[in-house]
Amino acid sequence: MEGGDLVTMQLAPSILSFDPANFLAPVQEVATSGLADWIHLDVMDGQFVPPITFGAELAKSLTSQISLPVEAHLMTLTPELHFEAFCQAGCRRIIFHVETTAHTHRLIQELKSYGTEVGVALNPATPLAMIEPIEEMLDILLIMTVNPGWGGQALIPACVQKVREARERWPGLPIEVDGGVDPATLPALRKAGANVFVVGSYLTRTPSIQEGLRQVREAGEVVT
Ligand code: DX5
Ligand code: ZN
Repeated sequence: MEGGDLVTMQLAPSILSFDPANFLAPVQEVATSGLADWIHLDVMDGQFVPPITFGAELAKSLTSQISLPVEAHLMTLTPELHFEAFCQAGCRRIIFHVETTAHTHRLIQELKSYGTEVGVALNPATPLAMIEPIEEMLDILLIMTVNPGWGGQALIPACVQKVREARERWPGLPIEVDGGVDPATLPALRKAGANVFVVGSYLTRTPSIQEGLRQVREAGEVVT
């Protein structure tokens, strides 16, 4: 399991907010910074969420050019249609939304057969109870802290309590948070029990990506 040891904070920068016509340079900056643990690839299909973003070909190009592991966050209907392609593209972790299927258990089994790490994501309005039947099967739980679809949104405060409850229920499960993470919001999420942090648009508002990652790490390190 590569969701971390639950004490060490991991950063999974999202490339969603980088200029799509020119994002190899910023992605390389993330990869060579020594401050990130994963690249978070936001895959949107124009159906489950309105925007359309990246496909498996792009994932393949990224995994062939960068040293960090890539996780695909599938915000798509019928996510199983995309499993094989993203696994073959070299993604080391695939996360799909429980809201997109009536067959969460079967889809996790299918993903495991590809030998990839498996995570499921929960929208802000989706209860933690959805996870209970499949908790033993997960490598990571992704708790959305905004409604999926767009970078740059403000974190929904009630989601912090949801992270706390998830940590109480599953003391040994890596918990990732996604949406509105920055140095101001990270400490409360970390205190609540999250250990993997997606950070997106914040990195476009700092003097450099390196500096943004450093600030985010520093914000997490002051939390004991
Ligand atoms: C939202 C995506 C996030 C997003 C995070 O649907 O899943 O990964 O890129 O971006 P920020 O950090 O700007 O909220
Ligand atoms: Zn995401």
